[in-house]
Amino acid sequence: MKELLANLTGVYGPSGKEDSIRSAIEKEIKDHVDEIRTDTMGNLIAVKKSTLSGDKPPVRVMTAAHMDQIGLIITNIDENGFLRFSNIGGVSPFNVINRRVVFENGITGTVSYETELENMKDLKLNKMYIDIGAANREEAEKQVSIGDVAVYYAPMAAAGNRYFGCAMDDRAGCAVLVQAIKTIKDSPNELIFVFTVQEEVGLRGAKTSAYSVNPAMAISLDVTLTGDTPKSRPMAVRLGAGPAVKIKDSSLICHPRVKNLMIDRAEEAGIPYQLEVLEAGGTDSGSIHLSREGVPSGVISIPCRYIHSAREMVDKNDLENAVKLLNSILENEIVL
Ligand code: CO
Ligand code: ZN
Repeated sequence: MKELLANLTGVYGPSGKEDSIRSAIEKEIKDHVDEIRTDTMGNLIAVKKSTLSGDKPPVRVMTAAHMDQIGLIITNIDENGFLRFSNIGGVSPFNVINRRVVFENGITGTVSYETELENMKDLKLNKMYIDIGAANREEAEKQVSIGDVAVYYAPMAAAGNRYFGCAMDDRAGCAVLVQAIKTIKDSPNELIFVFTVQEEVGLRGAKTSAYSVNPAMAISLDVTLTGDTPKSRPMAVRLGAGPAVKIKDSSLICHPRVKNLMIDRAEEAGIPYQLEVLEAGGTDSGSIHLSREGVPSGVISIPCRYIHSAREMVDKNDLENAVKLLNSILENEIVL
């Protein structure tokens, strides 16, 4: 799991540019599924067929994790070779100050800001720039073009059970899903695993893939905030206390049958879990549950500190227990 996570968090893949991360995931899972395809939007869709025989159609369950990560998109290059940028997804100015970032072609730069600023609270992305070491516009344009996207350059590190690095959102969810695919037993349900694109810019890949998959039930895997750091906002989720069964975020209210199924399976299997109410933020199930005439949907969340920074932190046990919980849900016949 550690090696898998280190590998997946190190692959370039901001929203809209998921080709490399999709190839990396496809390589991991292709020998463990019955079918695999990439759709028009770029979602990777893998199928594990049901073991049921006879007339009764199996219950089709969609499980989703988003492949994309946040990034900085170049809007302008000035005469001195400094790159101005806008955000792809939720980028806080304070999280990117003096961070090293990397473009798809391997060019790296440092993020800084206009020092005339009187009050740091007024810092906005349009007062910031990326310095790639170019002497002027011409030199910069040989390396970077308008519309290119940089992501954090931050190889994963470990301290005991804690892993920290960039893009845990949502490569941690991808790693859990990959590991589940590799370890799951045969299932009476029809399992559709979707690694989605463009979640960070509005749950977009989930929307089209849910329509084509047309599932009877859906589960997303994504990171969630914690309330366990000094003077953090009150939130009953702690790092290392188990995967969180989402009740609500700003994109959906989880379907009670799916939420209860998660809780029941966790209780039966003795898997530690927590309950999550996330005040602000959403994930793929927010799109999926509104597909067609509605899809009963839930989310297994991975507790994560410092989300959308270059040092997002997750816990090994939470990841392993998320795999166990997901497998115990998917392996057993689901009655809706
Ligand atoms: Co995110
Ligand atoms: Zn996410």
